[in-house]
Amino acid sequence: MSSVLPAPPELILAINACVACGLHATRTQPVIGIGDGKDGLLIVGEAPGAKEDETGVPFVGRSGMLLRRLVEQELGLSPESLTITNVVRCRPPKNRTPTRKEQATCWPFMERQLAYLKPKVILTVGNTAAQQLLSTKEGITTLRGKAYEKDGRTIVPTFHPAAALRGRPDIEQAMRHDLRLAGTYLGQL
Ligand code: URA
Repeated sequence: MSSVLPAPPELILAINACVACGLHATRTQPVIGIGDGKDGLLIVGEAPGAKEDETGVPFVGRSGMLLRRLVEQELGLSPESLTITNVVRCRPPKNRTPTRKEQATCWPFMERQLAYLKPKVILTVGNTAAQQLLSTKEGITTLRGKAYEKDGRTIVPTFHPAAALRGRPDIEQAMRHDLRLAGTYLGQL
């Protein structure tokens, strides 16, 4: 039977009940993810923003709309069918970058979610997700444009769509390139 949830039920319960870091005090709800991984691509962002905290769904704000459109145009994957999660499951106040400690505290959830979804390709978006998944302090500008094999996983880092929204068509072009690269590993291009 194929999975229909972004995480196994016991993991969903554990994340919903988590109070392991201070972010639980200000969140509306944790954002566990969306999609069942059936297309082989898992998109990993940084942390929920205001809209995601409100709805419980990752990447539903402006940057999410851009990301979903680019994925649809470059990979032909429908925005509704994407599988998406974040390094940190609770919104940091004022959308600040989650601390290393917060990221490390949330990481065991990611390990369990990866074991469940078994993605063929992980597309990390932005600095935080690339650095966390690749265990590096290198910045996204250096990391992107290549695919990495780590712990048996294929990881393709790209820019965060919020950067492309700041009037940077070059960043959107780079994201399109990285998506096509991910597509070659998915076997779709
Ligand atoms: N930015 C992220 O990194 N993740 C989201 O879910 C929304 C915005």
